[in-house]
Amino acid sequence: MSQHKEIKRITTNTLQKMKDDGEKIAMLTAYDYSMATVLDDAGLDVLLVGDSASNVMAGHETTLPITLDQMIYHAQSVVRAAKRSLVLIDLPFGTYQGNSREALNSAIRIMKESGAHGLKLEGGAEIMESVDRILCAGIPVMGHLGLTPQSIYKFGTYAVRGKNEAEASKLMEDAALLQQAGCFALLLEKIPAKLGMEVSQMLKIPTIGIGAGNGCDGQVLVINDMIGLTKGFRPKFLRQYLDLYEEIRLAGESYVSDVKSKAFPNNSEQY
Ligand code: KIV
Repeated sequence: MSQHKEIKRITTNTLQKMKDDGEKIAMLTAYDYSMATVLDDAGLDVLLVGDSASNVMAGHETTLPITLDQMIYHAQSVVRAAKRSLVLIDLPFGTYQGNSREALNSAIRIMKESGAHGLKLEGGAEIMESVDRILCAGIPVMGHLGLTPQSIYKFGTYAVRGKNEAEASKLMEDAALLQQAGCFALLLEKIPAKLGMEVSQMLKIPTIGIGAGNGCDGQVLVINDMIGLTKGFRPKFLRQYLDLYEEIRLAGESYVSDVKSKAFPNNSEQY
């Protein structure tokens, strides 16, 4: 399958065409300029400035503490790096749930100040008024259903969602509502593969899965998990491509040893 490497900038239309043509969409999170430069060069279709920055960048236990200002800072760095990838940002917790006017203000501010190409919001029917208002302002929105980490204290657990009939049918209804409202795509997190497949087949817009099975139209992972920087985090859905934690730890150990033993710098490493 061609990787669309020749395309100048991926747009929401490109993603729709990928679904229509049966080409899977590759998305990863990114939070800083250096990593986003490499991932853009690697051919990622979408870079998500996820509010998982709260966990992996800032060390918080949940995504709740990250602020709009902090998300804008991360997104500006990613936007500066991305030449081809579409850049999306999570609207952080507390900036859109209050009312739709607050949601629109947050959306406009984050789009204006970051230069990103679209937003992701967690939730279905409960946030539809906000979604409508943001879409009316011409801002592309990706929905996010299934496990929605901003509601972790309501769920009480990071377990798989949509396993029982009631949850699965609410998810199907919310997915249809988000598509009807005009969302350009839908992220599905931690749901049974069968449900991921059903939603993807029901919707015309692309679905992007994380722990939602191979039937989704694309996949996303948190970059720090995918390259093995988050020590000890190995959920079933994660494919870890590198063990960077160990590699960096070993490099750090070698550096300490070279400095202490006066082996660094050597003659060719000084002026
Ligand atoms: O913030 C995040 O990293 C996400 C994941 C589901 C990709 O939203």
